[in-house]
Amino acid sequence: MRLSVNIDHFVTLREARRSSDPDPVLAALLAEQAGAEGIVCHIRGDRRHIKEKDLHRLREAVRTSLNVEMAATEDMKKIALKVKPDFVSLVPEQPEELTTEGGLDAAGQQKHLESHIRELQAAGVKVSIFVDTEIRQIEACRKLNVDRIEINTGPYAESPQGRKRDEALEAVRLAAAHAADLGLEVHAGHGLDYHNVEPVAAIEDITGFSIGFSIVARAAIVGIDTAVRDMGDLLLI
Ligand code: PXP
Repeated sequence: MRLSVNIDHFVTLREARRSSDPDPVLAALLAEQAGAEGIVCHIRGDRRHIKEKDLHRLREAVRTSLNVEMAATEDMKKIALKVKPDFVSLVPEQPEELTTEGGLDAAGQQKHLESHIRELQAAGVKVSIFVDTEIRQIEACRKLNVDRIEINTGPYAESPQGRKRDEALEAVRLAAAHAADLGLEVHAGHGLDYHNVEPVAAIEDITGFSIGFSIVARAAIVGIDTAVRDMGDLLLI
């Protein structure tokens, strides 16, 4: 299954009552049991959902691949070097945003990112960068020798059906093809749900998907196992 499940919003629910339920570790294990090939979570500067303690527990429990999204800051790097997830995904972060709003400016921050990425990789942590479909950003990721990129599907997911959405899909397709030609492993994610994922799943150069909100929302109604399997079925194109 080319699906990594982002479990952040199980923790959003937990934090709504400052409770210990639902437990993100249990969510991760059930997602893996339903066939997920990886577990993703985002530790934010404001710790609105995932906390350091969750990361340590997830590191102990996750048997597939643990991918932690974070900003490229010194504090976050320290956390990554302690937890040692399989992957760190570098994302931009704005304090008031509801969710990540776009890709990282890899082209504009080459110098800073280069040493940041080298340090993580030297410690055995693979690095992915969340990028928009711009070719210059993808080429910047290649120069940075990242282990993977994740193409931002947000503009596609947010466009109304019609020409705008078709163009956004084409941009994802071209970006994925270019990245694959450069030898990069290509994942995609953001805003993907049960209704819009199939055209993106049909892009062969994309070998993995990171999907969170729509799976957690469905899981609240039908359970995690069904929610993950339903999404997995849509990715089998
Ligand atoms: N990829 C990245 C880099 C993200 O920041 C997020 C949201 O945390 C996702 C994928 C998943 O997006 P969604 O929750 O809309 O499926």
